[in-house]
Amino acid sequence: MKFFADTAEIEDIKDLAAIGLIDGVTTNPSLIMKSGRDFIEVTKEICGIVAGPVSAEVVALDHAGMMVEAEKLRKIADNVCIKVPLTLDGLKTCKALTSDGTMVNVTLCFSANQALLAAKAGATFVSPFVGRHDDNGFDGMQLISDIRMIYDNYDFETEILVASVRHGVHVLEAAKIGADVMTAPPSVIKGLVKHVLTDKGIEGFLADWAKTGQSI
Ligand code: G3P
Repeated sequence: MKFFADTAEIEDIKDLAAIGLIDGVTTNPSLIMKSGRDFIEVTKEICGIVAGPVSAEVVALDHAGMMVEAEKLRKIADNVCIKVPLTLDGLKTCKALTSDGTMVNVTLCFSANQALLAAKAGATFVSPFVGRHDDNGFDGMQLISDIRMIYDNYDFETEILVASVRHGVHVLEAAKIGADVMTAPPSVIKGLVKHVLTDKGIEGFLADWAKTGQSI
C-alpha cells in the first residue's frame, strides 16, 4: 500500500521522505490555509521533494472554471495530480484531464456509487473520506470494502486512496482490505511506529548492555 502525507508542511514532508515513508502528498484548501503559504509556491516546493503524485485541489465549482485552474496547476510540475470534487462538473473535468494524460484525484467521496462514477470518468485516484464518514455515523471501512469489491468486479484501474485517516486502525484496516493508497497526517504516519513492547525491549537491552561495561 502506498502512503501519501496529507499535509502542506514542508518540514514534515522532508522528514517522512528522508525515512522513505511516503510515496506522494495530498493537499486541500484547508491544509494550504493552515500552512500559511502561497498555494502555487508551496505546491512547487512539495513537487520537488517527492517524486510521486502531489494532489492540488481546484476551488471552482463549474467545469470551465475547474479547467482554467487545472491548467495553471498542472504547469507547476509533472507530478501534480489535479484534485476535483465528486460532482458532475468535477467528473467532467476528470474525464477531460485524464484523457489528456493528467493525473486526477476525485475527492470528497462518501458512497460506493460515487466511487463507481469516478472510475467511469477515468479517475487516477478516488478519495473516500473514512474519518468524516465515521464522524457522521457511517462505517468508513465498509465503504472501502465495497469500493474494493466493485472495482475488482470490473477491473477498474482507479486507485482507492483512503483519506481522512485519523489513526492506526484506519491504516491497518485499509491495508487488510487492499486499498491502493492511504493518505494521513504526518503524526498518524509516524505514530504507526509506536509500540509499548518495543520501548520496553530497548529499555531492557540498554540496561543489560550497561552492565557489560562495553562500548561499540
Ligand atoms: O485530504 C482530505 C482529507 O484527508 C481530510 O481529512 O481529517 O480533515 O477529515 P480530515
